[in-house]
Amino acid sequence: MILSEKHVVVTQSEAGRFRAFTSTCTHLGCAVAEVSEGRIKCPCHGSQFAIYDGSVVHGPAARALPAYEVKVVGGEVTIAGKDQSGAAPPTAQ
Ligand code: FES
Repeated sequence: MILSEKHVVVTQSEAGRFRAFTSTCTHLGCAVAEVSEGRIKCPCHGSQFAIYDGSVVHGPAARALPAYEVKVVGGEVTIAGKDQSGAAPPTAQ
């Protein structure tokens, strides 16, 4: 799921295991546009990132998508904390 206005992509690599990453591609800053086949995909130059840790699966991007801390409480997914770049956390829940 891509939350465009929050610049966050939320993935579920296995049942109940949610992850959140910035949706800004680490290559040249386009917004990622698709999550499919276990990958987060950027439409601009074809970079792809793993849904379980944001690592680069296919370049030209050379750096992983920074991750946010995710908590699941009572069936609600909350994104908290700072990403690995130190950026402010999104306010999405
Ligand atoms: S900006 Fe995403 S692949 Fe270039």
